Amino acid sequence: MKTLIFLISFLNTLALAESSMIQAMKEQQLIETGHQAFLNRCSGCHGQAADGNGPASVMLNPKPRNLVSGSFKFHSTSSGVLPNVEDLMKTLNQGVIGTSMPSFREVSEQERLAIVMYVRSLRPDFKETLADQIPLNIPRPPKDIFSNKTGLLGAAKKGRAHYVKACILCHGEKGMGNGPSAAELTDADNQPIKPANLRLPYIKSGKTPQDLFKAITVGLDGSPMPGFETLFSEAQRWELVAYVYYLRGVEAGIYNEGDKIE
Ligand code: HEC
Ligand code: HEC
Repeated sequence: MKTLIFLISFLNTLALAESSMIQAMKEQQLIETGHQAFLNRCSGCHGQAADGNGPASVMLNPKPRNLVSGSFKFHSTSSGVLPNVEDLMKTLNQGVIGTSMPSFREVSEQERLAIVMYVRSLRPDFKETLADQIPLNIPRPPKDIFSNKTGLLGAAKKGRAHYVKACILCHGEKGMGNGPSAAELTDADNQPIKPANLRLPYIKSGKTPQDLFKAITVGLDGSPMPGFETLFSEAQRWELVAYVYYLRGVEAGIYNEGDKIE
């Protein structure tokens, strides 16, 4: 009986070892497919070694990211934590609007996943910090702010006060990205970088109010844009989002004199 139990558990271990071997082989195949796709689709900008030095990179501003040692700006994870698989899929899906980084929405999901697995294989810290790559719980936009003009303007007015305290130096008096510090800012690679013009109808992180909330909460790693998770409460960060919506509205000419809050 004992031998039988031993035999069964031995076979089980063997089966497990085999399935994890198959798993590893599948992962290796996926990474290899991703590597080929990367050489075809990405290396012109990001370089054959993914170090950001592709032939097109000399003409580009901002520069393509060094994917081997650079930072990642877009992630649903905490400030300073690497993006998870979904975050990288989102970056490939939407591209980085306002830069040369295109959207790869037309590429099949399977191929995009293979590319993402390749990118994640380029550095050991993706595996090492896997447990930290959990998405933050981004709350839904408060209804009382985003369902009517009075609510939005009320919150935006409070948001303006936070903005003057913490953002104006970089983003400027009217949100155009031209504050007194703007000209001197550099990114982690010592390249000059401009604060976003908050009056434009888009940001790089995405289209939704939650994308704005997330960008303000965790910042854009590797850029001077800090995260404000500790400086401002959740409610205050939504007021800042409301203020950004107000600025977009001013730019679009949808407000009249009476709506002015500054
Ligand atoms: C035409 C040039 C170009 C091509 C082609 C291109 N990229 Fe990019 N990529 C960029 C630029 C420029 C940036 C930096 C954008 C920024 O910093 O705002 C970037 C940034 C990125 C980032 C960093 C996003 C982050 O969170 O900071 C990733 C990941 C990335 N690219 C992956 C890819 C992959 C994978 C491909 C191919 C499927 C690809 N790129 C193709 C130009 C390109
Ligand atoms: C030290 C300068 C600095 C300060 C302070 C700062 N920002 Fe930024 N911000 C930047 C830079 C630089 C960028 C552009 C980063 C990029 O394009 O990669 C940026 C980008 C952004 C974006 C666009 C993010 C995206 O996904 O494209 C938003 C929104 C934003 N900032 C809001 C704010 C708000 C709100 C505050 C104050 C609570 C603030 N910033 C404070 C420098 C700053």
